Amino acid sequence: MGRLLLTSSQVSVILSAAIVFLFTLALFLSGYVLQQRYVHSLQAAIKPRLPKPLPPPKVIAPPTLDAKWARPVGSRPEVDETYAQYIAGQTMDWSRLGYVQVVREQVELCSAVMLLSDLHRMKSPAKRLLMFPKLWLATADDDQYGPEMSTTRRLLRTAARRYGVTLTPMEPIVKGADDTLPSSYSLATLYSLVDYERILYLQGPGVLLDASALDSLLAFSKSEPMAAYPATPERTDMSTSLLMVHPSQQSYHQLRTLRESTPTSDLNMFRKTFTVPDSLISEWSLSMGNVVYESQRLRDENDNFNATAFEQATTFVRLSDPELPGPEYDVPYSVKVEIRPQNEQAQEAWSKLYERFRQRRMEVCGLDLETYKPLMMAGQF
Ligand SMILES: *[C@@H]1O[C@H](CO)[C@@H](O)[C@H](O)[C@H]1NC(C)=O
Repeated sequence: MGRLLLTSSQVSVILSAAIVFLFTLALFLSGYVLQQRYVHSLQAAIKPRLPKPLPPPKVIAPPTLDAKWARPVGSRPEVDETYAQYIAGQTMDWSRLGYVQVVREQVELCSAVMLLSDLHRMKSPAKRLLMFPKLWLATADDDQYGPEMSTTRRLLRTAARRYGVTLTPMEPIVKGADDTLPSSYSLATLYSLVDYERILYLQGPGVLLDASALDSLLAFSKSEPMAAYPATPERTDMSTSLLMVHPSQQSYHQLRTLRESTPTSDLNMFRKTFTVPDSLISEWSLSMGNVVYESQRLRDENDNFNATAFEQATTFVRLSDPELPGPEYDVPYSVKVEIRPQNEQAQEAWSKLYERFRQRRMEVCGLDLETYKPLMMAGQF
């Protein structure tokens, strides 16, 4: 039996050889790691910034048809058409449907981002776009911006990063117009978004109560150059409170040409270009409840008003009361008391909407209400 016997000196020689080997290996490895890191950071520094690859397209199921659509009110289209629209919805490409907000002044930006954030929160599958003057992207030489521009740039970043909003800078509608003037920009720019099949524009500021109703409207409608919200229930005029648009080069060109020859308001430009009632959203589409409701109407509600039923049947409330400068402004309590609805339930609904707006403004934009010094009301209150 050839047993291998080692003397203690042999053992210590082997041990020290092993220790030397291990240290050398460790040294080599740490050197290697350091070198790799250095190479990587060098590569990163030299490499041009490549955009991140897009995530694989997700298959998004169309929204379940909103219950509001089941209401048997008014003139419903033939069953066949409804079914065709439903089938169209099944194979729908959500990347070609979008919600758009258009802001021309920095003070409007937060409300637009709030609305898009609500759509994000309510998990609308459609795209969210924000159009704003391209001028706002101009970088200052020293990277120093005034307080207002700093807020604007912060909100644009928030919109893109946190709420997945596609930032879409726009130019004045008429070439060469003063790009610092809000009036140089127009809703006609919506028609430049020709990559989209249908886009839905909502006029803010307001509170979105139900995104699925809007998703249904966007998804199950036909593409038409213009489907505007009627100004009155009699459907004799259009408004710009909600527009569903099929963008095309042709309409874009037509509107720009008109605007170049006659400076006019967006509403007048649309009135001249599209006919009523053909260019209004169909009666059937609006039969699902209050698609757009203006807060001042709550003052006309009577004792039959039910706040719960109102919330369930309403999609979007535009906060618009003629005596108030807008929900972004803090007005004295005495002013609110004077103008708020008399009916108890309507009053509760009204106050809740304004309060909800205030809270979301803080959550989304990190902004308090603006102080407002009404010139005309100063003596009155
Ligand atoms: C208000 O409407 C809700 C929902 O439609 C209903 O459940 C409730 O009974 C109504 N309340 C009154 C007082 O009618």
